Amino acid sequence: MITREQVLDALKEVKDPEINRSLVELNMVRNIEIKGTRVALDLILTIQGCPLKFKIQEDVETALKALGATEVDVRIGAMTDEERRALSESLRRPSGPTAAGANTEPPLLSKASKTKFIAVASGKGGVGKSTVTVNLAVALAREGKKVGIIDADIYGFSVPDMMGIEQRPVVIDQTILPVERFGVKVMSMGFFVEDNAPVVWRGPMLGKMLRNFFSEVHWGELDYLLLDLPPGTGDVALDVHQLIPQSKEILVTTPHATAAFVAARAGAMALHATKHELLGVVENMAWYQNKYGEREYVFGRGGGEKLAKELNIELLAQIPLGAPDNDDVDDPNFAPSVYDANHFIGKIYTTLARKVIEKAPVHSES
Ligand SMILES: Nc1ncnc2c1ncn2[C@@H]1O[C@H](COP(=O)(O)OP(=O)(O)OP(=O)(O)O)[C@@H](O)[C@H]1O
Ligand SMILES: [Mg+2]
Repeated sequence: MITREQVLDALKEVKDPEINRSLVELNMVRNIEIKGTRVALDLILTIQGCPLKFKIQEDVETALKALGATEVDVRIGAMTDEERRALSESLRRPSGPTAAGANTEPPLLSKASKTKFIAVASGKGGVGKSTVTVNLAVALAREGKKVGIIDADIYGFSVPDMMGIEQRPVVIDQTILPVERFGVKVMSMGFFVEDNAPVVWRGPMLGKMLRNFFSEVHWGELDYLLLDLPPGTGDVALDVHQLIPQSKEILVTTPHATAAFVAARAGAMALHATKHELLGVVENMAWYQNKYGEREYVFGRGGGEKLAKELNIELLAQIPLGAPDNDDVDDPNFAPSVYDANHFIGKIYTTLARKVIEKAPVHSES
């Protein structure tokens, strides 16, 4: 004979894959009926057409069969609007006991948050900030860290395309769940723009957007949240500094002296105006390795080192020119800008990720 308590205990271990909390905690399991070793229950999902419904159903069945159930009948239902609203509210509050409605600060921005923020900045455009952000994030995830990316380039968002993300985020009432790809949670303005139509927001709206990426998105627990900044030292950079004064920064430059000089200005601003700690410099497009194994310094040489010296910080990595090997568009793992762990550039990103972990350590159980 299986008991109701056993069923609930077993299902406490089963999580809603999107929200990443237990079905029991989310009150999704209802009307449990047990006859001997036969179990029937209602499984109330957030929305009727939940794309993961079969996966969740299967997880429930597996958990109950492990208990000794011989027959499992899972009846799928959906939450009412009211229930979805309540869930949306509860997702925005940090887990754990808080006075109802007392805490309106997004959990990631609260003082108790252990998340390390790393903004990826450059003086000039097109030097590879987004590429570095995406690949550093994927490499950190490969090291077992819980990682998110905010694509803070509100007009020029590129992260979803670079990572080969085709789906849109799930929205529960007013709470947005980030899209997960290669173990990294991603939020981008690109998810909310139809057919690449240009986004016309300006000034204050931008700051609000960035704030919304914290207040309306259920990030869950994160070790690292990387912010891909637009080029230069504009409004968004300042907004980031204001919103996340504790953010650390990585400066990306090409090896060219001029690029390094412009990046130095961005770095100087970060240091003096915002007091952001600079983690170091990444020199991207450092050289091209030709088929004879020789390095050709296509975009000049020495810019990264010069910049690092000037700002008295470390040159964290030099990343050569090279494309990811994956060109099979039909492969579900296809992503135009993500280097595989075994790619020679992927390995450089692994080393970079380890350095970042060392310089900005997190304390988590994973
Ligand atoms: N190491 C590299 N080897 C080859 N191509 C690269 C490398 N790094 C970046 N690229 C390519 O260079 C272009 C610019 O890179 P990316 O978009 O990452 O720069 P960015 O600094 O984010 O640009 P923006 O200032 O427009 O946001 C992209 O097409 C990218 O794929
Ligand atoms: Mg970019």
